[in-house]
Amino acid sequence: MIFSDFAPNETSKDAVLAIKYLFQPWRWRKGKEIHYLKRRFKSCFFSSDTQISLFMTGRTALYQYLSSLKLHTGDEVIVQAFTCEAVILPILAIGLRPIYVDIHSSDFSMNIQDLKNKYTPHAKAIIIQHTFGITPKDRKQLLEFAKTHKLQVIEDVAHGFDPNLFRLKRYTGAVLLSFGRSKSFSSVFGGAIAIRGIKAGKVLKETEKNLPNPSLFILIQILIYKIISVIIKATYAIQLGKGIHFMFKQFDLIMPEITKQEKNGQFNNAFLRTFPNIAAICMLAQLDRFNDVVNKRKKVSAFFDSELHVKTAHGLGLLRYPYLCNDPAKLQKKAIKQHIQLGQWYSQVVAPKEINLMAVGYTTGSCPIAESVSKHIINLPTAISIADAKRIIKVLK
Ligand SMILES: Cc1ncc(COP(=O)(O)O)c(C=O)c1O
Repeated sequence: MIFSDFAPNETSKDAVLAIKYLFQPWRWRKGKEIHYLKRRFKSCFFSSDTQISLFMTGRTALYQYLSSLKLHTGDEVIVQAFTCEAVILPILAIGLRPIYVDIHSSDFSMNIQDLKNKYTPHAKAIIIQHTFGITPKDRKQLLEFAKTHKLQVIEDVAHGFDPNLFRLKRYTGAVLLSFGRSKSFSSVFGGAIAIRGIKAGKVLKETEKNLPNPSLFILIQILIYKIISVIIKATYAIQLGKGIHFMFKQFDLIMPEITKQEKNGQFNNAFLRTFPNIAAICMLAQLDRFNDVVNKRKKVSAFFDSELHVKTAHGLGLLRYPYLCNDPAKLQKKAIKQHIQLGQWYSQVVAPKEINLMAVGYTTGSCPIAESVSKHIINLPTAISIADAKRIIKVLK
């Protein structure tokens, strides 16, 4: 079975590591790996004056960063339509107002022209999303606009990013990362904010220190997921994996990526926790393989570009490869018959579909390109072999 959504990064190596640490609970909460991870992140992706703060999820990191800005109730945060509840609910929970800007259908990221239409002086921050890991083609203009209008910048690279982008000293604002289970690297739960400068990062560092640890049950869930997801993937085609997945979800042994409360449009305070050491251990193992995984994703993304005669990836290794079609549901059904599970980020301008758009401040019709894209998009997996990519192309054609 080829998966786009389910545990794209988990391998038998991760499962073996998790089994080993299942018997070392004293290393789950605190340990030196958290510091190693920060150092590793800095040396791989960021400038030497960057401060990294780790949290239980990306949405926690965003919540804490926005809180640290000390904005006033009702202040506006500019976001793109075609995003996830994980971006919007922290904004609402703090009493801020999301202002939705339309996207380009070529890079699935914010359109500078529409930003100029939607901007008001109440706007105090902007979230620049690198959707699927594609660097927004308007990034430079968006950053210039933010500078002119004194907007706090958060570059949301939860889906992935060009690894060379933030190594330079010149990047401004904060960078939001996610290590959720379906992201470029995964510790099942996890997120971070990277900011340049000791002074700028000081408040967040304090918050990181003072947040409570995740419960023991969540720590066990991280390890269980690392083990069971590999078994599920290996046995899915013979129905066994499907059954195991169902059972583990029924008994709450696998925590959903988006909780019921979030689907009802409410930020889940249970995520306001720190990043545990066991997650850092899992992340370090993923970073050991990062270059290989990125190269694989690059090759497959370039293969899809050439087969589909488009220039979507621009040489990057995308987390998922976006493909626009007439009837995503029909294509998904056709693909499943060939044991290929295609993803659907995002099937609504603020995903998932259960989210009430009015409740998250979105006015239908205000971002027509994002609305159209969300009706036509399908995601192809990229952490696969070229042989599997050829099978996918065959289904598409
Ligand atoms: C664009 C975007 N930003 C941020 C996040 C937050 O990540 P997390 O799941 O770690 O809270 C997500 C989650 O999927 C996302 O899609």
